Amino acid sequence: MATLLVTGIGELVTNDPFADGAGPAPVHLLRDAAVVVEHGRFAWVGAAADAPAADTALDLGGRAVVPGFVDAHAHLVFGGDRAAEFEARMSGTAYAAGGIRTTVAATRASSDEALQANASRLVAEMRRQGTTTVEIKSGYGLTVHDEARALAVAATLTPEVTYLGAHVVAPEFADDPAGYVDLVTGPMLDACAPHARWVDVFCERGAFDGHAARAILRAGAARGLKVRVHANQLGEGDGVQVAAECGAVSADHCTHLTDADVAALRDASVVATLLPGAEFSTRSPYPDARRLLAAGVTVALATDCNPGSSYTSSMPFCIALAVREMRMTPAEALWSATAGGAASLARDDVGVVRVGARADLAVLDAPSFVHLAYRPGVPLVAGVVAGGVPEPALAR
Ligand code: NIG
Ligand code: FE
Repeated sequence: MATLLVTGIGELVTNDPFADGAGPAPVHLLRDAAVVVEHGRFAWVGAAADAPAADTALDLGGRAVVPGFVDAHAHLVFGGDRAAEFEARMSGTAYAAGGIRTTVAATRASSDEALQANASRLVAEMRRQGTTTVEIKSGYGLTVHDEARALAVAATLTPEVTYLGAHVVAPEFADDPAGYVDLVTGPMLDACAPHARWVDVFCERGAFDGHAARAILRAGAARGLKVRVHANQLGEGDGVQVAAECGAVSADHCTHLTDADVAALRDASVVATLLPGAEFSTRSPYPDARRLLAAGVTVALATDCNPGSSYTSSMPFCIALAVREMRMTPAEALWSATAGGAASLARDDVGVVRVGARADLAVLDAPSFVHLAYRPGVPLVAGVVAGGVPEPALAR
């Protein structure tokens, strides 16, 4: 197997506390660095001056390099868009969970090919912005057939596939929500579990209460699915407590938390995956990242890319929001968008530059990772290395 030396890295964020070099916690930096890649993984990481020989070399000309972003929360399998709903919201209409049904109708009416093309387009858009690992949920089909086909599309794009049959109660079950929970935990789970790694539920007023959410997550877990939860997005509620009780790896949103919720996240080691694109796009107050960090909770950042509440595919944009609006330091925000995302997905092979990890990098047209927040809205990602393969744009 040929080896590749990537050199000329002016600043390399490793997220590896055991690497030489210092830099602001928690990211850890090496300056004038290089990496060697073999079999899609890092085989060597260190100072460029000490780099071993390799079969081929790529010189990045002094640019900053960070681990490829790990976007742990995205809804990419859908039809249509909701620009009109966004426009109305920006004129004062409040966001509510029920808008999901608009996308459910458009998704059911879409062909398999159209769903695949739209999801693939969004994954490509993410990659252009430095994302090399993405989680993709179902949740806009809400029939056995439409949920299973959404997961089949997702599985062509990522191993991090999430069954979200419990996004809202399907319109056909408006008068029988308990019947819908039976479907989600029965025949729909049978059809979907083979395609998925995760089970998720939208635990919120207008979607599923704590009782239903527990039943859905426990049924998924009994089928071997790992647990994540849409929790406490629009108001206080049971989501975080249910996540802690059901052994969730991550509770996502976490916008409205009581002190008991923060303690539950910490005590059950549940990652809080914050989604500031949703607060931006629904003009809502941001989650209190500083409170979570002070309590010792692991914080991840993700886009929540979806046509209703957060139609951004940009991790750099979410980093900028986290720094400016949530008072995370640039280093904290970058860590949360990389190593934090990996924790949210129970992965130890991504989000870090360390021997043995997947060779996923985002190369920045900037001298420092700080520019991700300092230069908001600027396309700083020159290209990615994904699984050890550099995009052609990086060879110059
Ligand atoms: O994460 N909260 C639930 N689901 C999405 C919104 C989906 C929609 O509005 O279509 C979210 O924000
Ligand atoms: Fe979501």
